[in-house]
Amino acid sequence: MSASRAVATPRVVAVGDLRPLAKRRVPRAVFDYLDGGAEGESTLRENCRAFEDVAFRPRHAVSFAHCDLATRVLGLELSFPALLAPVGYSRLMHPGGECAAAAAAGRAGTAYVLSTISGHPLEHVRAASSGPVLYQLYLLGGRAAAEGAIERARAAGFSALVVTIDTPVAGMRERDLRNGMKELLGANPLAMLPFLPQLLARPRWLARFLLDGGVRPLPNVVIPGEGPMSLPDVGAALASAAVTWEDLRWIRELWRGPIAVKGVLTAEDARRAIDEGAAAVGVSNHGGRQLDGVCASIRALPEVVAAVNGQAEVWMDGGIRRGGDIVKALCLGARAVLCGRAYAYGLAAAGEAGVARALELLRADVERTLRLLGCPSVSALDRSYVQIPVSWQR
Ligand SMILES: Cc1cc2nc3c(=O)[nH]c(=O)nc-3n(C[C@H](O)[C@H](O)[C@H](O)COP(=O)(O)O)c2cc1C
Repeated sequence: MSASRAVATPRVVAVGDLRPLAKRRVPRAVFDYLDGGAEGESTLRENCRAFEDVAFRPRHAVSFAHCDLATRVLGLELSFPALLAPVGYSRLMHPGGECAAAAAAGRAGTAYVLSTISGHPLEHVRAASSGPVLYQLYLLGGRAAAEGAIERARAAGFSALVVTIDTPVAGMRERDLRNGMKELLGANPLAMLPFLPQLLARPRWLARFLLDGGVRPLPNVVIPGEGPMSLPDVGAALASAAVTWEDLRWIRELWRGPIAVKGVLTAEDARRAIDEGAAAVGVSNHGGRQLDGVCASIRALPEVVAAVNGQAEVWMDGGIRRGGDIVKALCLGARAVLCGRAYAYGLAAAGEAGVARALELLRADVERTLRLLGCPSVSALDRSYVQIPVSWQR
């Protein structure tokens, strides 16, 4: 069956239908890397659940033949208000990886945010998309490696930097440890042995993975004098890759273009990000993959929107699985959202066709939700279209 047929109606009528397809396609270790969160995964669950606390307040007896979904993010015209979030090493999910996701984003008229932990060179990802591409920066390999990536991103035509500030150390992803992710990515065959059956259980994935060259070094994290960082080194390297406000100043000087700060959950950090020159503040808990026990992103959004007070764009990510979630985030003041797993399930299920299907479903959801709400455009959405618990209002 072709990839696009595999993700067509009636098998896939909602983004949630892509998850079981992904689970069938890739080994458990890869699926859990994508699906899992940190520690007890309470934040991961809460990210999705908390959308249920937001209720719509529709305006009935109005009708629009067409709703306008277009928006501007950092001056970029997007056909709908959802960007593709940085998802590290997407090439594990499908050989097309970051290039396939970027291509699908471009075709859908939206932007792709490329993770530092990419399996494809940033120049190839830029070339794969007809739309805008942003570069997510970690200080992996220190400032010298980051400087090289920033210069390459500028030369390749990336539109903005997205600096992630919530990763002073990698979160404790228990599923990855249980599945032997580190051993599987490493070079010691003996250590790998107990975990190999899960790869052998997905022979099609395994064949594609080996044909694609297996575990590759990271082409965008090039340490001067040493070369590209190897994937198994990432976990340890993250522990000394924390981005501080001082680093942000250094990054701003070097880049000189727009910067979004991703990983803000409080009014204090939002104000600090603006003081440091952020053009966008990304409300995010990293999809529940970092500090377990922090509140759901949608729950943190009103506090951050109030603190930002129109001085920067506010983005939000975490738990978006339906277009209705996107609309709720916009009602609460987000300019746009970033979707992570929603498209990554599609990538694992069917490569570029799977990502395209996820975006098509989200777009149709947003349009339908606007019409049901009685709202003509995403730019007209505001607080009056939703009701939130009293405890969220401060
Ligand atoms: C498999 C995976 C890898 C991720 N890698 C990165 C990364 O490299 N850099 C980053 O800033 N965020 C990363 N994230 C977080 C996403 O950018 C985003 O914040 C999160 O996925 C949003 O939650 P959602 O998956 O519920 O949409 C990753 C998320 C997933 C699921």
